Amino acid sequence: MELESLRNSFNNYFHTNPEQCFFAPGRINLIGEHTDYNGGNVFPLAITNGTYALARKRNDRKIRMISLNFEEEGIVELSLDDLEYDETKGWANYPSGVTKLLLENGMEMTTGFEVLFYGNIPNGAGLSSSASIELATGVMLQELFQFEIDRIDLIKLCQKVENEYIGVNSGIMDQFAIGMGKKGHAIWLNCDTLDYEYAPLQLQNEQIVIINTNKRRELASSKYNERRAECEQALKEMQPYVQADALGDISSAEFEKFKQYLSTETLVQRARHVIYENERTEKALKQLKSGDLKAVGQLMNESHRSLRNDYEVTGKELDTIVEFAWKQDGVIGARMTGAGFGGCAIAIVKNTHMKDFISRLNDHYKEECGLDASFYTADVGEGAHEILS
Ligand code: GLA
Repeated sequence: MELESLRNSFNNYFHTNPEQCFFAPGRINLIGEHTDYNGGNVFPLAITNGTYALARKRNDRKIRMISLNFEEEGIVELSLDDLEYDETKGWANYPSGVTKLLLENGMEMTTGFEVLFYGNIPNGAGLSSSASIELATGVMLQELFQFEIDRIDLIKLCQKVENEYIGVNSGIMDQFAIGMGKKGHAIWLNCDTLDYEYAPLQLQNEQIVIINTNKRRELASSKYNERRAECEQALKEMQPYVQADALGDISSAEFEKFKQYLSTETLVQRARHVIYENERTEKALKQLKSGDLKAVGQLMNESHRSLRNDYEVTGKELDTIVEFAWKQDGVIGARMTGAGFGGCAIAIVKNTHMKDFISRLNDHYKEECGLDASFYTADVGEGAHEILS
């Protein structure tokens, strides 16, 4: 949808023009999955699809919000003075939570506001539509009310909204990628220190394609938290033998030496995934910087195998897509991306083979899983920002 038509929608709902327009991207993760909450490294990038927010200040303390993605729910009306989480508010809890935490952190907002959101990433598909609306709200409020907040602090605040207000115990990867994205670059991030480095993603004859399983995944679902708890348990059992505050501090050599102390095979599997995946992100950074895309593709394939066999978060739909992709000509690498349990896979595919790849994969997936996949090309875009016309 064009910005112009979003402006018209704003006008229809609020009978005036928006003062400012903002955009926050979605994200995909190249490699480094389920490592962020283990103090490890991730390697995500911001995409050019995401969430638009058009807004204006009001003269009173009311907040009025509409999402074109949930238009049937109509305008949600809140007040600056009552921003408690409320299940019946649905999607509006995200902007409400960000507003609440900004206020609690001393950001001054003297009036309410009106905002229209529109997202062109699918909801609940693992491309971080939630972190996207959080950062869109944060940047919007920062610019509307002209308060100062460091970008990394805003990212941390949005993660806190997700963890404490929404109640999803996720790591910092999504908010970081969406807040710090850079056109043409992936972001290598150490989630413990928050040291990061931009690595150019120079795709000349290839493109990254996002493949949505269209199997809805609920991140809040118990599996994600179950994996977190298993990782904490594995860490606890290894700590008497190795100096580590998180699984991300343990090398694969140390792991091989001390895995015998883990009490169950499941814990061995979970820790093995995290520790080797963490090392794969370091290799991927080196290889990407030296332009060895083929080697990065191999690491992506290894990552998926580890998520399938050891971490057990892929499931039939993602495995069907990724395993088929591995066998196709012109595919450099393929893996699930995000939390898993459905959601999206990504593949790096040569331009010359893309059309054929998509049509063959589509047929195969439908036959095996009875669902249609959706395909998007991932262009690497900027982090959350104001759209200046
Ligand atoms: C979700 C979470 C992230 C991260 C990934 C798995 O996207 O929001 O913090 O844990 O899953 O890598």
